[in-house]
Amino acid sequence: MFVFNKPPVITEYVIESEKLKKDGEKVFAVISDLHECSFGTDNRLLLEAFKDIRPDAVMIAGDLISSYSNGNPYSTMKTLDMLHKLYPLIFFAPGNHEKKIIERPVFKRQKACFKEGMEKTGLSLMRNEHRDVFNDIRVYGLDLDHRFYRRLITRRIPEHMLERLLGKTDTEKFNILIAHDPAHFPDYIKWKPDLILSGHVHGGLIRIPGIGGLISPAYTLFPKYDAGLYEKDGVKMIVSRGAGSHTINLRINNPPEIMKLVIKGI
Ligand SMILES: [Fe+2]
Repeated sequence: MFVFNKPPVITEYVIESEKLKKDGEKVFAVISDLHECSFGTDNRLLLEAFKDIRPDAVMIAGDLISSYSNGNPYSTMKTLDMLHKLYPLIFFAPGNHEKKIIERPVFKRQKACFKEGMEKTGLSLMRNEHRDVFNDIRVYGLDLDHRFYRRLITRRIPEHMLERLLGKTDTEKFNILIAHDPAHFPDYIKWKPDLILSGHVHGGLIRIPGIGGLISPAYTLFPKYDAGLYEKDGVKMIVSRGAGSHTINLRINNPPEIMKLVIKGI
């Protein structure tokens, strides 16, 4: 397990929409790609960072734990339990690592730990489902098949597949899609969510000033969607640089981050 002795950076985004009540403002804390890392002992510094955000709800954009464990997944599930006690409203969509753990027999030990941890918290993964929150917000959790995470190629998502998996967006509500892999942004756009929350790329591991991230987990050099806010055809996507590392702890010009997301009406 990689232990950081400093808290993660908090990056703030403010998103405005006519779909939300004018006087309403909701704050979400968003975390992706913790990969079993710890900020101080028992993630004390991470939990303090969440407290600094003072969120109304928490979103987890996948890869909380790792298929090939970094260390002690039980400790990460304990962190999730502590987070859930502080913030009962948690939306947790799977990353490629949770997907592998759940579906591939080789990760039996990790699966047992993950299952036990999730049962203890009472949370369930959002696998192609949605939940409504705060009257005017709908949150979708996307669970894409393994073939969409293959290395070296970005397989396009067939038209209408998202509608088959998730149903139609609710045009009356502000639709947030938690989708772990940002490489499919052009395909997500066609489904017409208002906002997409992603991670997976870890900021490209090494960030080169003026250029961006060097490499993605799919071994794409200079990945197009590596970190920050993107917008096309009225759809916004925020990509987290991620909170942790796996396999090698390599992050240059790329400190671990969690995000404060403020969503408000215009
Ligand atoms: Fe990932």
